Amino acid sequence: MKALVLAGGTGSRLRPFTHTGAKQLLPIANKPVLFYALESLAAAGIRDVGIVVGEHGREIRELTGDGAGFGLRITYLQQPQPLGLAHAVLIAGDFLGDDDFLLYLGDNYLQEGVTDFARLAAADPAAARLLLTPVADPSSFGVAEVDAEGNVLGLEEKPDAPRSDLALIGVYAFSRAVHAAVRAIRPSVRGELEITHAVQWMIDRGMRVRADTTTRPWRDTGSVEDMLEVNREVLDGLEGRIEGKVDPHSTLVGRVRVAEGAVVRGSRVVGPVVIGAGAVISNSMVGPYTSIGEDCRVEDSAIEYSVLLRGAQVEGASRIEASLIGRGAVVGPAPRLPQAHRLVIGDHSKVHLTS
Ligand code: DAU
Repeated sequence: MKALVLAGGTGSRLRPFTHTGAKQLLPIANKPVLFYALESLAAAGIRDVGIVVGEHGREIRELTGDGAGFGLRITYLQQPQPLGLAHAVLIAGDFLGDDDFLLYLGDNYLQEGVTDFARLAAADPAAARLLLTPVADPSSFGVAEVDAEGNVLGLEEKPDAPRSDLALIGVYAFSRAVHAAVRAIRPSVRGELEITHAVQWMIDRGMRVRADTTTRPWRDTGSVEDMLEVNREVLDGLEGRIEGKVDPHSTLVGRVRVAEGAVVRGSRVVGPVVIGAGAVISNSMVGPYTSIGEDCRVEDSAIEYSVLLRGAQVEGASRIEASLIGRGAVVGPAPRLPQAHRLVIGDHSKVHLTS
């Protein structure tokens, strides 16, 4: 069995981060989302993996290389434009050949991995196999209707009036029958070749489409809120480890990981927290549920439930929370305001001055 991982797309809901980098490389507990996918494919015994990349393909290739570091053989497939998940399968036709494969959306995080799902797909062959989970608001996902035996009766992509609460998780198992489907379907109203439509095409032709349902933690890391939540969930399973330097004026509470080369001075860190290599935390309060990337600097600040990407700097911030701070970004105190205000204020206005 092969795997096809989708790491192209625009990541529009994660702008501005996706202007300068791939969303699949945003970190969860200081490790790119995509790495969790690749590790779980390797753990499921898969070796040949195609990664579909778009405009940030170079950055992804530089990090994941030929896949040897993950125990994989990676082939990169350049998608000229993000024309949809089924389009990504279409351009991967030569790589996939007639083999069965797992399709894995590179921005999905699945705590349980894909070992059981791949095993089920091999033991009970079907034209397509989906992984579903009940969600509170299915209208932002693909939604499936399933009978009592686990046969998929119908699918809809982001429906206004969902017919069930079962959302499609971004992991699918396909037989070669999917290739005719992705060739046959037409673009949706949002202009994409939808994989849900390809699967519906298979159902309409009487092909066997099965579904498994899971209630284990899963996240589409498509928005800042999702990123912070999945970071929290992964940090919850973190083991503390101190490899960097923590001075005697600092206190670490709970599970804190301080990478080699990181420095904590005069600070209180309440876990779970990860602090990346080369980062410096001084005279600050950090955590809980915070990931500080490599080479970040946090000084005279308090920060919790947040993610700082590599090289970000925060100084003099009395309280930062629920924040995602980009690579090399600088957050610092505003320059001192002038003592006098010059005002031109219209009739009946109300102005509240804080100083
Ligand atoms: O996360 C699960 C959901 O993923 C499913 O419930 C939906 O049925 C499925 O359509 C998909 O919806 P999204 O709108 O979240 O897909 P998104 O555009 O975020 O793309 C998912 C991944 O595929 C992401 O890593 C980007 C990549 N991609 C996307 C497109 C449109 C590509 O590589 N090429 C593309 O053309």
